[in-house]
Amino acid sequence: MKPATAYYLILGCFCLAFYCGCTSYTFLESELQPHVWKKLILVHHWPVTVCKMNENDCNDPPQYWTIHGLWPDKVDDCNRTWHFDVNEIKDLLPDMRQYWPDVLHSSTNHTQFWKHEWEKHGTCAATVEPLNSQKKYFGKTLDLYQKLDLNSYLLKVGIKPSSTYYQMTAIKEALTSCYGVTPKIQCLPPKEGEEVQIIGQIEFCFTKELELRNCTHSKAESYMMQNDWHFRTEELSVCNDTLTYYPAQVHFYH
Ligand SMILES: *[C@@H]1O[C@H](CO)[C@@H](O)[C@H](O)[C@H]1NC(C)=O
Ligand SMILES: *[C@@H]1O[C@H](CO)[C@@H](O)[C@H](O)[C@H]1NC(C)=O
Ligand SMILES: *[C@@H]1O[C@H](CO)[C@@H](O)[C@H](O)[C@H]1NC(C)=O
Ligand SMILES: *[C@@H]1O[C@H](CO)[C@@H](O)[C@H](O)[C@H]1NC(C)=O
Repeated sequence: MKPATAYYLILGCFCLAFYCGCTSYTFLESELQPHVWKKLILVHHWPVTVCKMNENDCNDPPQYWTIHGLWPDKVDDCNRTWHFDVNEIKDLLPDMRQYWPDVLHSSTNHTQFWKHEWEKHGTCAATVEPLNSQKKYFGKTLDLYQKLDLNSYLLKVGIKPSSTYYQMTAIKEALTSCYGVTPKIQCLPPKEGEEVQIIGQIEFCFTKELELRNCTHSKAESYMMQNDWHFRTEELSVCNDTLTYYPAQVHFYH
């Protein structure tokens, strides 16, 4: 297999609009919050890879990156009495179903997944004003996802699901040069008999002011990334700079 090539012709144009538009959130940061976090991580996952990791539960996954969650680093379950209420996000449901589906249980409603994301992560994010209700937390996450527009960007630069492999460095460079920050890219390591890692998640990090920042890796973060919901994300790890498979289908044949 020879590595597929990424095309950089149109780098930087679309994505830059985002940063300029998004610097206007201000709020008072309380130093007295008991649940302290420093950054938010917007996690996209590739539904085909999620399905590969959970083959019995899943069919016909979306062919676009969907939202896994918006996670404050370091903390979770910050308010166990603030229960999820799907009625509070009624207006968002069409977008929620499209962009934030429970990819493993697509034929049922996604309420259990959203409840989990709210209770584990949303209740912590809610310590800042722009995210301090269920409607704001889910709505703002959808907003950030749509502004990043990762799917369109990847297609524009020619990075699409393929039976040829990509160099991870090409994917990283394409993302970094577009967004101006380093994302964290996670892969499923090669299983025995497989040649290559499989791309699984792309994480973008934001400050408390909801501005993009670099993602940095630390022990504490990799701990809290594990075991989220039932996606078996603990099998993912930071991608190595090697050939990478970006699969179009759950099942593939050598
Ligand atoms: C937890 O959530 C409940 C319900 O929204 C709220 O009344 C309470 O003030 C919250 N507690 C903290 C510590 O934020
Ligand atoms: C989704 O399913 C749960 C049970 O798992 C049910 O309680 C809830 O009302 C359903 N929500 C919608 C919007 O259909
Ligand atoms: C990256 O390489 C390390 C060391 O060889 C390995 O332990 C890890 O599983 C690899 N990660 C991926 C995603 O392949
Ligand atoms: C992100 O890191 C790069 C170097 O890796 C640095 O040049 C850049 O200024 C950083 N950006 C932000 C927003 O911190």
